Amino acid sequence: GAAELGPYRHYMQKEIFEQPRAIADTLEGVTGIMPELFGDKAHGVFQKVKSVLILACGTSYYAGSTAKYWLESIARIPVNVEIASEYRYRDSVPDPDTLVVTISQSGETADTIAALKHARAQGMEHTLTICNVSTSAMVRECALHYITRAGVEVGVASTKAFTTQLAGLFLLTLALAQAKGRLSDEAEQEHIKAMRHLPAAISAVLALEPQIISWAEQFASKENALFLGRGMHYPIALEGSLKLKEISYIHAEAYPAGELKHGPLALVTSAMPVVTVAPNDALIEKLKSNLQEVRARGGELFVFADADSHIASSEGVHVIRLPEHYGHLSPILHVIPLQLLAYHTALARGTDVDKPRNLAKSVTVE
Ligand code: G6P
Repeated sequence: GAAELGPYRHYMQKEIFEQPRAIADTLEGVTGIMPELFGDKAHGVFQKVKSVLILACGTSYYAGSTAKYWLESIARIPVNVEIASEYRYRDSVPDPDTLVVTISQSGETADTIAALKHARAQGMEHTLTICNVSTSAMVRECALHYITRAGVEVGVASTKAFTTQLAGLFLLTLALAQAKGRLSDEAEQEHIKAMRHLPAAISAVLALEPQIISWAEQFASKENALFLGRGMHYPIALEGSLKLKEISYIHAEAYPAGELKHGPLALVTSAMPVVTVAPNDALIEKLKSNLQEVRARGGELFVFADADSHIASSEGVHVIRLPEHYGHLSPILHVIPLQLLAYHTALARGTDVDKPRNLAKSVTVE
């Protein structure tokens, strides 16, 4: 009811603003990295497994897609990420030395549970879930788990569940790296420090809301939008486009920016807003030349840069700068303005933000 909403108009907005608290709770008590964070038997399992298979649906699938970048670069473990509803019906090659990781806010998504059982039936017995509901079927079915502490999420469009899943997946990355002897004490301390600072860093990003509202007013009259990102921010672009389409009903799709010339450039006109996730990472110069290709075709750019990206506003190029550059954890910060953009665009269009048409919070049937 209204009392629970406090100063917020919708649960989605409230849940976006709860993220500093949700992340702090999810990481509470984590003063050092150890496999036991995932269960008593995790140490032996983490030492043994040679690869990771991530299974999930929807927003949780994009959390897994982001984690693939972390796991391969930090823990040096090969990762496959699969949409649960595809994996469960596909002839795949089972590997008993794989850690099967399911990601689920509810822990009750039918396709994800079925995919897990399918993996197990094929002889993959090392299972772990990152889940927001400790009493769920998913937690019961998996040998190992990490419970995110987002708290109850009411809005159908997932927000705080996503960022807390990313926090849990980053911990998993570090714990696997450690079990493999690939995490120095100094690196461990640095990562922990960065994680501890996340709530404050997220609060600083949330303070950008007024600037994002002015962009949302321009988006409200559009019928299409393109989202671009590169590297570990490509899944963030995908999640941003999912948020926008789910609640504002604007058709949106996401592309890794290097792929523009293989198709989506044909769609670019002045009527196509192009949202770009542009932190100052190793690909920033390549991304900037991708953006020039869009500008040359009249596309209007809405760029989420960060403190170090060096992208200036100009004719047809709007820039909102996140206050800090955040290294490996940058995806957790960069998704937040995309959540706010979707929320305020939907608000401006007058759609039912918390209960978008045709969608359910938890899909417990196939
Ligand atoms: C539904 C929800 C999404 C969610 C997906 C997976 O589609 O609307 O927000 O990402 O299910 O749900 P899960 O509970 O498994 O994360």
